[in-house]
Amino acid sequence: MSRRCVLQGLAAASLAPGLLAQAQARPAAAAAIQARLAANPLLTPLRGVDDASGERHSARLVKRGHWPEALRGRFYRNGPALFERDGQRYHHWFDGDGMVQQFTLTGGELSHRGRLVQTSKLQAERKAGRFLFNALGTAIEGGPPITGPDSVNPANTNALEHAGRVLAMWEGGSAYGLDPADLSTQGPVTWRADLAGLPFTAHPKVDAAGHLWNIGTMGRHLVVWQVGPDGRLVNFQHGSSPYPGGMVHDMAVTGRYLVVPLPPVKLDFARAVGDGPRRFALDPGEPLRILVMDKADISRRRVFELPPQMVFHIGNAHEAGDGTVVLSFIGAPDVSFLDRGAVALMAGERMPAGDSLLQLARLDMTTGRVQVEQRPGNVEFPRIDPRRIGLGGPAAAQWLLSGAGWKRFEGRDGGLLHGIQLSHLPSGRLQRFDYGAQVIAEEHVLVPKPGRSGELDAWVLGTTFDAAQQATVLNLLEAADIAAGPIAQAVLPDALPLGFHGNFTAA
Ligand SMILES: [Fe+2]
Repeated sequence: MSRRCVLQGLAAASLAPGLLAQAQARPAAAAAIQARLAANPLLTPLRGVDDASGERHSARLVKRGHWPEALRGRFYRNGPALFERDGQRYHHWFDGDGMVQQFTLTGGELSHRGRLVQTSKLQAERKAGRFLFNALGTAIEGGPPITGPDSVNPANTNALEHAGRVLAMWEGGSAYGLDPADLSTQGPVTWRADLAGLPFTAHPKVDAAGHLWNIGTMGRHLVVWQVGPDGRLVNFQHGSSPYPGGMVHDMAVTGRYLVVPLPPVKLDFARAVGDGPRRFALDPGEPLRILVMDKADISRRRVFELPPQMVFHIGNAHEAGDGTVVLSFIGAPDVSFLDRGAVALMAGERMPAGDSLLQLARLDMTTGRVQVEQRPGNVEFPRIDPRRIGLGGPAAAQWLLSGAGWKRFEGRDGGLLHGIQLSHLPSGRLQRFDYGAQVIAEEHVLVPKPGRSGELDAWVLGTTFDAAQQATVLNLLEAADIAAGPIAQAVLPDALPLGFHGNFTAA
């Protein structure tokens, strides 16, 4: 045996006990976190579900106030829900297996169904009785080889009903199709046989004509999907990313363009220690890039450079008619939420407070110049009137709905959102509603009223977690008067896992 082989053997021998000790320590650590979560009434939804409790059905929800007869449809949400197997708990909130929630509204009555998405990852891990695959923020050792993005796809970020099926989406792999009738999993969606498994991110936009636009990134590759109202692939384009390897989360669509923020954020493996969470960092010296591509030919594009910052979500983009594209987005000066906040939550600890600010960027497609305006207030989860997606000129959205934080106020858990805000983009005027310090406000959406066309002829629909009741609540507000608070609520029997995003489909 050569000296080199001996040294390698010794190294392996010395490593194995370390890994064993880490594995042995995990159940006690997970139990300690569960106890901490149970003792913090505001964070109990982060205890998560298991395979059994990830299947729920409430045929009739307890109601308060008046649920309008005209509000009929299905409201979906998705979020990480299964966080532990065999005593091992994920470090990062984004790691959990996705659970889709469906609220069905039938002329004043409401029901709820929630189901874990039966991804190939979840099924393999359920069978094995333990986690097998690396997650975004947690390294898992000893699993089978990863054959592509869908090997590790938790389908945990967004849910959207389109062309008769529910798409449960993640950032890096295929959308999973679910049956709207019972949320049973149909499997990963293949838009075209030769494109199977390519990334389909979690924030597609459906324009006024019913076309679904989406992107995907993998290393230096960038793909664009256009799916017709009938669910068939209309067009697929392939190009290169101007910032390979970064995190690309959201996109916007205008009449002519696709607009994609590319924040300078990467995994920082060097700072990951032992069994601890993977880390994220801003890439020093790199700007926030905004990629604007012509929908008809994505090789016709312009890249704008803005001050470095983290961007998860855009509000909207539209063409102003003077050669500029106006983009609303939420930017944070650092990656504190991604790197530490989402880890602290999973450990049952307070999150570090960070800023996330609504910003308007005017992107001049002729000169390449950009102007940015910041608006006050800590907000996230921006949404607009879904009827105005892709429209410009006078039809462009004027109002932006978002979650609102009061993190600097005493007694509030830093970083959590406790209310909602409606911002008038041209003037900066805004309305807010505060659910209170013991309530976590999740993403709310605008639901147009049938037969009406005004931008605020809409309801606002969204879930909250009420720590006092230890229950998830579905809330309905009038968009024209959100400051008045909910006009109707429906209370679930207990707490659902906190979710990220969702969408309403009218019946
Ligand atoms: Fe998102």
